[in-house]
Amino acid sequence: APVAEPVTNVPSRMQNLEEADRLVDQSPAQALALMEQILEKDPHNALALYGRARSLDSLAEVERSNARLEQSIFAYRAVLDLEDQVDDHLYHKSALRCIDRMRFRGFHGKAIRIQQRLVARFPNDIEYQNQLAIGFLLTNQPEAARTILEGVLNRWPQSGFAQVHLGFILKTTYDDYDAGARWMMAGIASREEGVIDGRFYSHLGDALTRLGRHEEAQRIYADGEKEGVFRSHDQRSLYNVDRLTAQPWWDKEATTYGPFFDLLEANWRQIRNEGVALLTLETPEGFANESEKLRDSGDWKQFELFAQGRKNAAHCTKAPVTCTLIENYPPALCKRGQVKFSIMHPGTHVWPHTGPTNCRLRAHLGLVVPSGAKLRVGNTTKSWEEGKFIVFDDSFDHEVWHNGSSYRLVLIVDLWHPELTTDEWQSLAPI
Ligand code: LMR
Ligand code: MN
Repeated sequence: APVAEPVTNVPSRMQNLEEADRLVDQSPAQALALMEQILEKDPHNALALYGRARSLDSLAEVERSNARLEQSIFAYRAVLDLEDQVDDHLYHKSALRCIDRMRFRGFHGKAIRIQQRLVARFPNDIEYQNQLAIGFLLTNQPEAARTILEGVLNRWPQSGFAQVHLGFILKTTYDDYDAGARWMMAGIASREEGVIDGRFYSHLGDALTRLGRHEEAQRIYADGEKEGVFRSHDQRSLYNVDRLTAQPWWDKEATTYGPFFDLLEANWRQIRNEGVALLTLETPEGFANESEKLRDSGDWKQFELFAQGRKNAAHCTKAPVTCTLIENYPPALCKRGQVKFSIMHPGTHVWPHTGPTNCRLRAHLGLVVPSGAKLRVGNTTKSWEEGKFIVFDDSFDHEVWHNGSSYRLVLIVDLWHPELTTDEWQSLAPI
């Protein structure tokens, strides 16, 4: 418990505090010194502890210093440690800023601990519980998020925010398309803040598709277009540059990358031989299963050579000719794409899906192409040809079938969309 202070000290200290508080934004170093002075005599003064945290927070920004930032995080937490000696308003302010700064610093686990303290202190505040669920999602703990959201919906059955997130988790983590779709539908219908989001429209449409409810899925995608979360009902990438020409299929020449395609086509047998030789490698050295749950049935594996514009050196030693051809062509070192061999066995169906971004074009070089394999992009379905490229924009809805009787092998090369500038190649965040 704090030591009782002589009453006469209070007015002058309050004056100091107000003065120091005004200083935080203009001169955080001075404010910090004043706060420390106050705390020396009165170590449990909540306002001074909060002022100290704010000063350190400002200094961290001015100095661009992580050490300072961490000091400010611990200082905000010291306010919370006062527990019932700090009023709700200040507790709330300190906690929210503390969480924000922790997340900024990448301390997601610590942020969750603060969120749990908020829930414990304000058990009737739905917002804190919903935000705690988001904290669990951000730290890849969907089971914990699910538990929180189910608790929220027991008490507040109408929370659209909780509904849409619970549906998202049931669909993406538990593969429960039916319950996932029901919750996401209800959540979107609430139109609460945060629910009109492309991720929910996308997973809802996908869940409906997998349930065979194609017309409903198409209506969701059309709604998504209307709400502006998608560029169009069948171009549903979420990381986009708006001005780019959008069409499902591209002529090789129209991409401006014709000479590159010609060169690889001229060398296609060597590329094929490198790809085929990889097939005898055992896992984990060799091909890896497609990992995004896109398969309805069958067997589809990939061998990655480049990801986010960077070479996979270990893999490239096993496909040196292919990697050298790629490496010498900057548009193919696309930070928003990959280069990989892709093998698909008979009996495979890949659910309709879209890639994450409209910033790349996806080129497939046919290497081993039996009959019975085909690719739909938008409304047009094509097949591969050995030694030839086909080029499409995988931000459009696409779907693959292989009903033949032997494997199909292609080299997938993502290239920057030809209308992006080389400055944009630098500045766009990798995907
Ligand atoms: C895709 O990019 O989704 C597929 O076309 C890949 C493949 O191997 O056919
Ligand atoms: Mn795809």
